[in-house]
Amino acid sequence: MENDKKILFSGIQPSGYLTIGNYLGALKNFVTLQNDYDCYYCVVDLHSITIDQVPAVLRQNTYNLIALYLACGLDYKQNTLFIQSQVPAHCELTWVLSCNTMFGEARRMTQFKEKSAKHPDNINVGLFSYPVLMAADILLYQADLVPVGNDQKQHLELARDLAIRFNNKFSPTLTVPEPYIASKQGGARIMDLADPTKKMSKSDNGGAVLMLDTPEDIMRKFKRAVTDSDTQIKYHASKPGISNLLTIYSAFSSKTISESEKDFEDVGYGDFKIRVAESVIEGLRPIQNEYSRIIKDKAFLEQVIDEGRQKATQKAFKTIRKIYKKVGFI
Ligand code: TYM
Repeated sequence: MENDKKILFSGIQPSGYLTIGNYLGALKNFVTLQNDYDCYYCVVDLHSITIDQVPAVLRQNTYNLIALYLACGLDYKQNTLFIQSQVPAHCELTWVLSCNTMFGEARRMTQFKEKSAKHPDNINVGLFSYPVLMAADILLYQADLVPVGNDQKQHLELARDLAIRFNNKFSPTLTVPEPYIASKQGGARIMDLADPTKKMSKSDNGGAVLMLDTPEDIMRKFKRAVTDSDTQIKYHASKPGISNLLTIYSAFSSKTISESEKDFEDVGYGDFKIRVAESVIEGLRPIQNEYSRIIKDKAFLEQVIDEGRQKATQKAFKTIRKIYKKVGFI
């Protein structure tokens, strides 16, 4: 029996260890929203090969990410946790959407420009069509809501445009998805601790705090965090380092920014950074404990992956059948 909950889709690339940016911008919201929606949480391994990956490492990262989803409390029975490459319809829909995406439209994507600049020796066609695959992920499940960090906003707009275009060209078929993006102060864009003008990212580890870092590493990274020459612990555009630390603290301690500012009224930067680190260590501890238990249970992980594959395939097949019919395939 189909339930009448609205549908939610989101995905994370298994391209390295997740950062607290991934957690606050995406994963934490996955957990919050999971009871109110019929959720599809995907490990987007097809996306990750747009950058070179070592096959054995990719395989391990994929298991790690499923284990991390579970460790954060995502319920695999109630929702669907699955691996993108195990559901062929993602690639099938990508082709149909590609033929309805304009070259100029794809060329405008800022992430493509950034990644091309970062990997000038590997500007492959997959990197270019990455947002079309992402649109296929979302539209295949007829998702109403897509929780993502701020950096994915432009890709989501493309997914909406492609859904609308398809519906107008053929007939209403695809749900037009809404983004779910936290506010900036709520963690939509966590910045690098070593360079708070740059987004924290799994691919450059300098100022990135990883979800599975040891408490000692977390403390060390926060102690080194870049601040400014002022002494005030206030959220302000002119203070990117301090604002970022306040955002992280308030997200991990479930306080507002102004409550957090009050906590540190007469505190120096050194002590402030230690308190932020402690809030992160405490917040991650239960997840890390669960993770180390789950990652050892390969049979359980295989079972979760298999159940997810079956549920996702069933749903995706329905959409792709409709789409193929509309475009005129026999
Ligand atoms: P990925 O794997 O780069 O990141 C996963 C999620 O984490 C968010 N995020 C951040 N949020 C706040 N601060 C940061 N510093 C930060 N860094 C990353 C991302 O916005 C994302 O929500 N293209 C996507 C994966 C994807 C997807 C999809 C997402 C593929 N198909 C369909 C939603 C729906 C990506 O590269 O995420």
